[in-house]
Amino acid sequence: MQKKILSIYYSQSGQLGDIVDQFCNTFIAAGHSVEKVRVNPVPAFAFPWTAERFFDAMPESVLGIPASLQPFSFKEDKYDLIIFAYQPWYLSPSTPANAVLQDPLFQSVVKDTSVITLIGARNMWLKAQERVKQSLGKSGAKLVGNIAWVDRNSNLVSGVTILYWMLTGKKDRMWGIFPRPGVADEDIAAAGKFAAVVLPALESGEWKGLQQALVAKDAVEVKTNLMFIEPRATKLFSIWANFISRRRNRKAWLRVFKYYLLVALFIVAPVVLLINNIFFRPFLGKSIAKKKQYYLDVNQPS
Ligand SMILES: Cc1cc2nc3c(=O)[nH]c(=O)nc-3n(C[C@H](O)[C@H](O)[C@H](O)COP(=O)(O)O)c2cc1C
Repeated sequence: MQKKILSIYYSQSGQLGDIVDQFCNTFIAAGHSVEKVRVNPVPAFAFPWTAERFFDAMPESVLGIPASLQPFSFKEDKYDLIIFAYQPWYLSPSTPANAVLQDPLFQSVVKDTSVITLIGARNMWLKAQERVKQSLGKSGAKLVGNIAWVDRNSNLVSGVTILYWMLTGKKDRMWGIFPRPGVADEDIAAAGKFAAVVLPALESGEWKGLQQALVAKDAVEVKTNLMFIEPRATKLFSIWANFISRRRNRKAWLRVFKYYLLVALFIVAPVVLLINNIFFRPFLGKSIAKKKQYYLDVNQPS
């Protein structure tokens, strides 16, 4: 029987849009109906960013203040599967993604419905996903799967190349030396292999065990170092966001935040990681494995 799928997302550069397209092609080829809704923020987030606008997006992202969206609608009242695709901004769901999660129409259509989250990130999505899980849980959605596409280069290299991409709009090799930024074309093109894992669950309506099957295909990977950095960085971002959002001279403080972020990412984080990896990590094997399993899973907070 033909299944009805809704896929809703925002994509600024088009990267997440390409992932959604590749992923959904498998369902379309199998004869199912896929309704894609790409939401549009008002005003639009111009691409490429200026450095000022890029850092200015931090407080609202971290505080969960949604962007305004052009009105959107759905063709159906009820779907067999909803694909919610999003990108993290500052370790939080992007403000357009947040707007979808807080939209009353989305909240009503997602209730009692199976949801799969697709993430198109640099590499840090764990804490954003916790917030998405919470939002979906509040709306009564059933999260049955999660897939994350990330930049496969190191944290420092992808930190440099994403800034280059976001600030120039060019997804190419910076100075001809660095690797291409973002999710690799091959990984985007291969998105269908994960949809093929979802297909039998969709057709049978038996979603149990789907995430384990996806994890077995490496649809999500949790790196120990990033799992260590993210919760700490999230707390610091929250302090900055609260502080800056209450300041009258926001622009000046955002400039301070910019330098803080560069120092934190390229100097502090590597040093803290080195200390952790030498003195603590060797003794924390079990607790690390347990945390990793938690992030690989789709358990929703009750
Ligand atoms: C303002 C901003 C903040 C971002 N913060 C993060 C982040 O915290 N973690 C991460 O993995 N990627 C981050 N990214 C990368 C995005 O998640 C995403 O991969 C990239 O912007 C491409 O998405 P698009 O399809 O919307 O163009 C950020 C991007 C922007 C523009």
